[in-house]
Amino acid sequence: MAGHDTIANGLTWTWHLLARHPAAETGLREELHRTLGGELPTFKHLKDLTYAGFVLAESLRLYPPSWVLTRRALADHDIGGTMIPAGAIIVVSQYLLHRDPRFFPDPLTFDPCRWDTARQQARPRLSYFPFGAGPRSCIGQGLATMEGILLLAAVARRWQCSAVTPVDCDPRATLRPKAPVLMRLRHVG
Ligand code: HEM
Repeated sequence: MAGHDTIANGLTWTWHLLARHPAAETGLREELHRTLGGELPTFKHLKDLTYAGFVLAESLRLYPPSWVLTRRALADHDIGGTMIPAGAIIVVSQYLLHRDPRFFPDPLTFDPCRWDTARQQARPRLSYFPFGAGPRSCIGQGLATMEGILLLAAVARRWQCSAVTPVDCDPRATLRPKAPVLMRLRHVG
């Protein structure tokens, strides 16, 4: 579940978003055209697939496959003036914080350009934590990011997806779509 369900759902949401945002989809295809020169994407292209990385990051913001983290307090603890008693269960939700307008203006808008360096550095580091944080954060973050970008690039260079059905969230262990996400494919490359 940690290695497959997460990134599979993450990419499903990415296609869902791209199908509804043609400008982002065009931006992605232009980058792929420029950087791949007709080749299949591999590790060597990764450093140039900047916009593809922005698209994935923005998708993990709006639809974080891991949408909630829980911890049990081992001892009494003060967090910003709120006393957390020993034994209490703390719930921290990526889904909520990633949609908080204090950190992400116009939070429901899919805007991959939020991830350019200047805008990213203007936000508190932990306003975005799709892979968790601290000593138990995701050991697969690097792998998931690499495979996410390369799979996105491999499919998007050949295929354009358009949405067929409306999609609702089904928040379980991972944030998944409630029903199969049907799409119409058009060959473009
Ligand atoms: C988009 C893809 C992924 C997301 C969103 C994700 C998210 C997360 C999150 C939020 C945690 C921390 C859980 C917590 O603090 O309670 C975590 C932990 C973990 N992830 Fe991932 N993950 C992804 C991909 C992967 C992949 C590809 C692997 C393995 C190949 C992996 C293996 C693990 C493992 C083993 C842990 C537990 C680490 C520990 O407890 O020390 N994850 N992941």
